Amino acid sequence: MAQQLVNKIAVVTGGSRGIGKAIAHRLAREGCDLLLVAQTQSNLETAAAELSATGRRIEICTTDLRTLDGCEAVSNSLDSTYSHLDILINCAGATKGGLFLETADDLWQDGFALKFYSAVRLSRLLWPKLRERRGSVVNVIGGFARTPDPDFMIGGAVNAAFANFSKALAGLGLRDDVNVNAIHPGITVTDRMQELFEGRAERANTTVEDAVKETMDKDGIRRLGQPEDVAELACFLCTPQARHIQGTAISVDGGSTSGVY
Ligand SMILES: NC(=O)c1ccc[n+]([C@@H]2O[C@H](COP(=O)([O-])OP(=O)(O)OC[C@H]3O[C@@H](n4cnc5c(N)ncnc54)[C@H](OP(=O)(O)O)[C@@H]3O)[C@@H](O)[C@H]2O)c1
Repeated sequence: MAQQLVNKIAVVTGGSRGIGKAIAHRLAREGCDLLLVAQTQSNLETAAAELSATGRRIEICTTDLRTLDGCEAVSNSLDSTYSHLDILINCAGATKGGLFLETADDLWQDGFALKFYSAVRLSRLLWPKLRERRGSVVNVIGGFARTPDPDFMIGGAVNAAFANFSKALAGLGLRDDVNVNAIHPGITVTDRMQELFEGRAERANTTVEDAVKETMDKDGIRRLGQPEDVAELACFLCTPQARHIQGTAISVDGGSTSGVY
């Protein structure tokens, strides 16, 4: 692909780190100007400085996406920085793993508030702009949407709800000419992956390395995913060539999801 998204404007939630930052970087290399959204100002500033090397305009919005006010701040920030919107990437997420009987109510609330409700709210708030430009939405969800796990119930439930919402939104996209698709990453090397495996290692009284190896062996994968693996697909889904791909969910997981989907 060569500069297919020149002067397109993209909002990337979770754009300060991990998969979101990799997607933001890939979009900027393709010619997009960006509004990066996350909760920690310093992480956003670091990411923006890094991504500015692409020569594109990089704006940031520091907000807590778990609240409606926090999502409205993104819409306001977009209004004060750019005149339109072509691409929405919903990637912020920090759902906790853990044993069901030990997951307190607020962890369930937080998991849904950040990943599910922020995507619902931002899609609703920004849809008129996306419709105006015949834009694209890419939802970064996760393989547990398809394969529930007793040690990752919040993430699985959030992801399943998000996948259902994503498909329904794509139906609205058919009417309004907005392209909507989802990506289900498998284990991908980010801060979040590190945190999840630290928890697993502690519960199993083992090391993070051994916990990772055990999961890789169980899943039969040869390597861990890199944020750039997801970013490549996310960027493609926003290009004109991908316009006939609508309402689908694609795994980027090295083949770890079993079953036929
Ligand atoms: N990594 C994996 O193995 C994997 C697998 C499947 C699915 N996923 C999904 O992919 C998405 C990205 O994951 P990742 O691994 O890239 O995570 P990550 O490296 O931990 O990054 C999380 C991002 O979400 C932002 N965020 C967290 N809480 C927020 C809040 N309250 N308001 C606004 N932004 C907030 C963070 O911003 P700050 O810098 O401000 O904290 C950061 O930009 C998540 O939805 C995750 O569930 C990841």
